[in-house]
Amino acid sequence: MNYLLRGIGVVTAVGVFSLLAFSLPSGDAHGDGGGNVLPRTTNKAWQQECASCHIAYSPAFLPKTSWRRLMGGLDQHFGENASLDPATQADILRFLEANAADSGTSRMGSRVMQSMGANQAPPRITETRWFVRKHDEVSKSVWSRKSIGSAANCAACHRQAEQGVFDEDTVRIPKQ
Ligand code: HEC
Ligand code: HEC
Repeated sequence: MNYLLRGIGVVTAVGVFSLLAFSLPSGDAHGDGGGNVLPRTTNKAWQQECASCHIAYSPAFLPKTSWRRLMGGLDQHFGENASLDPATQADILRFLEANAADSGTSRMGSRVMQSMGANQAPPRITETRWFVRKHDEVSKSVWSRKSIGSAANCAACHRQAEQGVFDEDTVRIPKQ
């Protein structure tokens, strides 16, 4: 009986310990736990102007040159006119550059850069080698399912994409 109680005590202690261990990564200084949770960087204009047609894609997914080109061509933005006044445009670009994949501010960014050539500046996150490799288990027909539409619709599968969370536990591919 005594042994049994002691045994339960140990099991409980281990249980509490592993709960603590699990909750630590999301509470670290950079909020970059596991590398699949993005730092909580934000900018008011970016949230306001870049999250109306799709989620506000984290700056960490593309290098500075890509963001510069994209922000320089907002009048012809993937078939849409997403033009802004010059001050807002400059404000957003500063934010994107400061937190870009090659700014050294996040683990996610470093990973994106690892598989990118020095002079590459893809116009899309979904065209980076990093993205293609990470999603090689997703077949072509899945991307075009009605509830997904395109690979750019991150939130269709990453249920917490808007909060910058992309870990395995939060991925669920819709059936149709
Ligand atoms: C008027 C609607 C609209 C607004 C506003 C808008 N976008 Fe887009 N954006 C689109 C469309 C449409 C696509 C293409 C989506 C697709 O391929 O499914 C796109 C795609 C993108 C992509 C490429 C996604 C991929 O495939 O990897 C990036 C990056 C992007 N937008 C950034 C921005 C930024 C930064 C802003 C704010 C300055 C912005 N967008 C504002 C409509 C918009
Ligand atoms: C059709 C569903 C789907 C869409 C849409 C999608 N993903 Fe994913 N994504 C996945 C799956 C499945 C995985 C692999 C999960 C795993 O096993 O780690 C994944 C993995 C990831 C990872 C984790 C990589 C790692 O290091 O483990 C990141 C980050 C990510 N996706 C970002 C994005 C972004 C950004 C977008 C939108 C531009 C996007 N995904 C769109 C299904 C999707």
